[in-house]
Amino acid sequence: MCGIVGYTGKNDCVDLLIDGLSKLEYRGYDSAGIAVMCDGQIEVKKSKGRLADLEKKMGEEGKPHGTCGIGHTRWATHGEPSDINSHPHGNKRVSIVHNGIIENYREIKEFLIDQGYSFVSETDTETVAKLLDYYYEGNPVDAIAHVIKEIRGSYAMGILFRDFPDKVYAVRKDSPLIIGLGEDGNFIASDVPAILKYTRNYYLLEPNEIATLSVNGVDVCDIHKNPVKKEVNVADWDLDAAEKGGYEHFMLKEINEQPTAIRTTIAPRISEGMPYLEESGMTKEMLRDYNRIYIVACGTAMHAGLIGKYVIERIAGIEVTVDIASEFRYRNPIITDKDLVILISQSGETADTLAALKLAKEKGATTMSVVNVKGSSIARESDVVVYTHAGPEISVASTKAYAVQLSVMYLLAFELAYAKGAISKEKCMELTAELQKVPDKIQDILVLKERCQFIASRLINAESLLYIGRGLDYALSMEGSLKLKEISYIHSESYAAGELKHGTISLVTDDMPVIAIATQSDLFEKTLSNIKEVKARGAKVTMICREGTEDDKAVANHLVTLPNMDDIMMPMLALVPMQYIAYYTAVLKGCDVDKPRNLAKSVTVE
Ligand code: M6R
Repeated sequence: MCGIVGYTGKNDCVDLLIDGLSKLEYRGYDSAGIAVMCDGQIEVKKSKGRLADLEKKMGEEGKPHGTCGIGHTRWATHGEPSDINSHPHGNKRVSIVHNGIIENYREIKEFLIDQGYSFVSETDTETVAKLLDYYYEGNPVDAIAHVIKEIRGSYAMGILFRDFPDKVYAVRKDSPLIIGLGEDGNFIASDVPAILKYTRNYYLLEPNEIATLSVNGVDVCDIHKNPVKKEVNVADWDLDAAEKGGYEHFMLKEINEQPTAIRTTIAPRISEGMPYLEESGMTKEMLRDYNRIYIVACGTAMHAGLIGKYVIERIAGIEVTVDIASEFRYRNPIITDKDLVILISQSGETADTLAALKLAKEKGATTMSVVNVKGSSIARESDVVVYTHAGPEISVASTKAYAVQLSVMYLLAFELAYAKGAISKEKCMELTAELQKVPDKIQDILVLKERCQFIASRLINAESLLYIGRGLDYALSMEGSLKLKEISYIHSESYAAGELKHGTISLVTDDMPVIAIATQSDLFEKTLSNIKEVKARGAKVTMICREGTEDDKAVANHLVTLPNMDDIMMPMLALVPMQYIAYYTAVLKGCDVDKPRNLAKSVTVE
């Protein structure tokens, strides 16, 4: 969701800004722009559409040259995608790029109109640009400090002032922004991949710290202009991790990275065969004492929480409530200081999940986050963090982040079950050992891609399809359904197989595709009956099941068989064919797999 890059240094910045923005394309955008200091003036180029449209425009109108500039990819919130609404915004003295939402922009706009300012765009950002201009009396940091006292909402901003032609200014609150420290210059960026080509060293800006970047260094101060000493972080992602590495799409690469991602995530959390989450600060004693557990997240991360609920309830016997973050934050949940609230997020910046975290803290609960991006807002604000080690996930459709989130859910369930005395040490070790086998098993089933490609070829003309399952298979089917619809644009619903007869089966007509997940041995016969029911009504059924149940293949039109594992571990294998089916369906339909329409990788607004 909106990408920001800025640079001031020894090199020409335009290609550098475009290159950095291209590394943020995964966040989703509908327009792009840059502002560059050229011969003492701010020159702005912006365009609706992709970065290629901006480059084309610069080719036609003339490319600016300069060594200090800011760039932006915009995901429209206030005002349609258009050249005018694209960032940067401002005037001859000030230019800004902004990620986030300014909630009180209307009243500020009215105030500024009364002061004689005029506006050309429908954006909230232009209001901030003009407010900066209003308060600017020769000192940019003073102007920024003034403005952030007046605006409400979320923001990450990169700012140029004409009077300071070799400086980039930056400030953030509730939207991510990092400061990159290079040899030939310094950077601002929404995310690490944008600067990895130039540097691995970066600062994390705390809310309302103001950074002044120049070619030789970065000064950071607080809102009162007190200097702040920053700790340098070193990105451990390598450049290859942020590139496609020979794969046609990031999504395919990320599906294939799952075995490594799971291994890297679980290895440091297993000690002498037992789950060990204490390095995160979550002790067995703490786990034993919680009354209730909530898991709160959005989208795929919420689906990982649902699997967590099934597994924790089954083996630890503790009730778990899973909430969609945007519902949780407004439903006045009953939470006390005896409860544990777990937030799951790949990006660590999802606005609703962050708000849910703040609410849980206000109510006194212990907050634990399961986050992939180090130093992200959710990670920093929660009491306990368990980082997943998936590496950068670029494709909008989440795959490997889901796999590692599940693996943490399993470890947590095992540790909880043992801490609560629900399972013996031997059982806990047995389950942990089973989880350790998952990466190799996934590696083996990655070969299923041709089978899934064939199944996908049978789905591309469908207008609508159903995913069905029972128990853990149902929880998993929600993710299969989301994956398919978000990238292939085929309408898809997931349904608890036993619930079909209560309404939804009326949708099933000749040739309607149904994907049934049937990996749970205790529920297999029942799911099979449901499959027969839809088949009898003309559905074309794909069944994802385990070896040894193929005898029943007569019920399914297409079959995907998985190696056998303990029932509770089967979702970790069944996720692969679901991801492949979604991926190949989207590829065969010619969809933009890594950047599906209307979607952003990181949803930093409500
Ligand atoms: O960064 P987060 O994990 O908090 O993101 C949550 C959702 O926005 C995300 O999982 C989304 O549903 C994905 N596009 C699904 O593929």
